[in-house]
Amino acid sequence: MSKEIIVLTGSGAIGIAIVRRIAVGKQLLLADIKIEQAEKQAQELRNAGFNVHTIACDVSNRESVNQLVETATKLGKIMGLVNTAGLSPSQATAQRIFEVDLYGNALLLDSFSKVMAKGSAALVIGSQSSHRLEPLTFAQTKALALTPTEALLDLPFIKQVNDSLKAYQLAKRGNTLRVQAQAVKWGRRGARINCISAGIIHTPLANDELNGERKAFYRKMLQELPAGRGGSPDEVANLAELIMSEKGAYITGSDLLIDGGATAKFWWDAKD
Ligand SMILES: NC(=O)c1ccc[n+]([C@@H]2O[C@H](COP(=O)([O-])OP(=O)(O)OC[C@H]3O[C@@H](n4cnc5c(N)ncnc54)[C@H](O)[C@@H]3O)[C@@H](O)[C@H]2O)c1
Repeated sequence: MSKEIIVLTGSGAIGIAIVRRIAVGKQLLLADIKIEQAEKQAQELRNAGFNVHTIACDVSNRESVNQLVETATKLGKIMGLVNTAGLSPSQATAQRIFEVDLYGNALLLDSFSKVMAKGSAALVIGSQSSHRLEPLTFAQTKALALTPTEALLDLPFIKQVNDSLKAYQLAKRGNTLRVQAQAVKWGRRGARINCISAGIIHTPLANDELNGERKAFYRKMLQELPAGRGGSPDEVANLAELIMSEKGAYITGSDLLIDGGATAKFWWDAKD
């Protein structure tokens, strides 16, 4: 049995598409707050020849993340971490989105930064939504990047947000900034870390947005995409596979946008 292990947090559509590319021949640990979700995906992957373990994990809970790290390190050499655990604006309150998408991600990166193997790589799935935010001040940017994880949710400009879309955008901006801020430290261990900011990707989470309270907004965005359609989890996996492989060895501390042109359309829709 391979001693190398890939850890996936959030065993949803995008995460599973990614690990299908990068966990062949390795052990795979699927973590999800809903253990039945991880088990269901594990069964399908086992049928396809993957060597899969599962664990219930709430990424927003320190004890739960500690257990995940302990389990992963006992299984083998951690060569990959992919964090796709997230809640979208129609799925949760602003506070819960900050807990999972902002604090949970920061907690995972802190915890795994101490155990990743030499030559390993981590990937966080952020969102093109974070590219729609009005520019933050330098002080806010620095605070999202560097504030100790336990103090993140007490930042005044975080605490004052009640709108779940704004919370999602700020949390995902936090993802790209935490990744960039960690890259130097990870480099000292011989590990890389990157973020992919995805646009509308057809998954259960995106369907909740396309049918939720902001459906008019999302459907208009979808209709107007320069790419002419939404993306698929496999298209995100194409990019993830490159980043996580040897071919991506020079990519670290980066945020890669894959959004069918949504950001370009939002900011700079040149008419002529
Ligand atoms: N689908 C899109 O259009 C899109 C666009 C941009 C960004 N994203 C981001 O990509 C990531 C994956 O999204 P997806 O579309 O695959 O969604 P998905 O709903 O299929 O997967 C998300 C998974 O995260 C799990 N999860 C939720 N809270 C958790 C927690 N506290 N701890 C552990 N697991 C938890 C869910 O149970 C689910 O299995 C999310 O972070 C999402 O914000 C998705």
